[in-house]
Amino acid sequence: MEMSLLTISYLFASITFILGLKMLSHPASARNGNRLAALGMAIAIFATIFLYESDGKKLGNLIWIFAALILGTVVGTLAAKKVKMTAMPQMVSLFNGMGGACAALISVVEYNHLLHVQEPATSTLAIIFGGLIIGSVSFSGSMIAWGKLDGRVKDFVFKGQHIFNLGLLFFIVALATYRIAWHGEIWMMYIILVASLLYGIFFVLPIGGADMPVVISLLNSFTGVAAAFGGFLYGNKAMLTGGILVGAAGTLLTILMCKAMNRSLMHVLIGSFGQTSAASLSGAASVGGSHKEVTLSDAAMMMSYAQRVVIVPGYGLAVAQAQHACHELEKILIDKGVDVTYAIHPVAGRMPGHMNVLLAEADVAYEQLVEMEAANELFPQTDVVLILGANDVVNPAAKTDPSSPIYGMPILDVELAKQVIVNKRSMKPGYAGIENELFYKPKTSMLFGDAKKVLQDLVAEIKSM
Ligand code: TAP
Repeated sequence: MEMSLLTISYLFASITFILGLKMLSHPASARNGNRLAALGMAIAIFATIFLYESDGKKLGNLIWIFAALILGTVVGTLAAKKVKMTAMPQMVSLFNGMGGACAALISVVEYNHLLHVQEPATSTLAIIFGGLIIGSVSFSGSMIAWGKLDGRVKDFVFKGQHIFNLGLLFFIVALATYRIAWHGEIWMMYIILVASLLYGIFFVLPIGGADMPVVISLLNSFTGVAAAFGGFLYGNKAMLTGGILVGAAGTLLTILMCKAMNRSLMHVLIGSFGQTSAASLSGAASVGGSHKEVTLSDAAMMMSYAQRVVIVPGYGLAVAQAQHACHELEKILIDKGVDVTYAIHPVAGRMPGHMNVLLAEADVAYEQLVEMEAANELFPQTDVVLILGANDVVNPAAKTDPSSPIYGMPILDVELAKQVIVNKRSMKPGYAGIENELFYKPKTSMLFGDAKKVLQDLVAEIKSM
């Protein structure tokens, strides 16, 4: 009876994961989707603690289990509450790394546990080593990704690094195959563990900072697969479903991000983005000429008398935490009869959906956000485009300069509008490290300053008109 209640709990948890993931695909239901999946996870955890039985015995060590649960809950809750929107990718990476570490630790513990009885079957060993290798790579790789995004770890490249990495990977697979198929020495597991941790480090170190979100998404899918191995090992269906969902979702997200940046995964993994952009920066130095500035009152006037204004948010808006001020401006313009829309580029910001989440936080209606293709159709009938802390995603070099590292990336065609106002703090480049010809075009006017301050001043200016 209890066993079947456990199975029902796992089934229920699996269903909540699937529904939760589905609900995440729309901002209006995303929050509840997250809650639903978290509820399913809580049920799976408590069902395992109280209902699981092996040889007629329930789980022991309840004090240790609850101490770890409480500690993890407190640390996780505090970290998630404290994190700034701009530091979200780091946080995702850190949490993902913890998942990888758990999967690897499960393999280490079960390996030793099973060896106490007898040498595990070949299939069991294969599952243990699958979880061990993928979980360890995901853990150490995610830690390096976290360090890079947080500015603590620098890109590190040495000659022949890709050959070294391939050699290391070959060594890991060969040693694991030997241990599994020919039942090699017991201690080989520890060599495989250390080599996998090293591989994770060397795999992520040369990848450029701008490609880190893609790598994090890839490592996310690794963690999912590693957790699924754990699910196989324990015959735990909730863990298996959860792992497979994370693995599949991470893989799809990786592919989508690569498509949005028009880069192949292989290019991301073996070509260092930072390096390419630095190399082409000298080439891009030909971009230049003079830019013109617009005053606050002129910008306020242009927007107030426009029929349609399209706002293009970018990473700088997140840095300035200007989403609420932006919503204020939008409301005041709508009150004046202006049609206001937000144009969302798929890789604006630093992680998928960054702008959607940021604007949702400020209660911007989801219906006002339009995706890139629709926005590009809207620009020819737009009077003013207001770019707020976005740079690469509106850079025409993506279409015109084959030597540019962002060449081929689809962009927002803001130039099709009648006038373009760009708000940023200086003429400095964005994340890809390249100059932007748009800033020097006759249609473009620069409105320098911190996005939040500028938006607040614009609102005050329009109110006083
Ligand atoms: P960026 O090209 O990075 O440009 C952001 C701009 O914001 C900077 O040029 C900066 O100029 C400005 N800025 C910074 N702080 C500001 C502040 N307080 N107030 C006003 N402006 C400020 O951003 P983007 O256009 O959103 O492009 C995103 C980049 O990230 C792309 O290269 C994309 O490929 C990459 N990326 C994104 C993702 C995802 S999924 N989102 C994944 C991988 C890579 P100043 O310093 O002059 O102010």
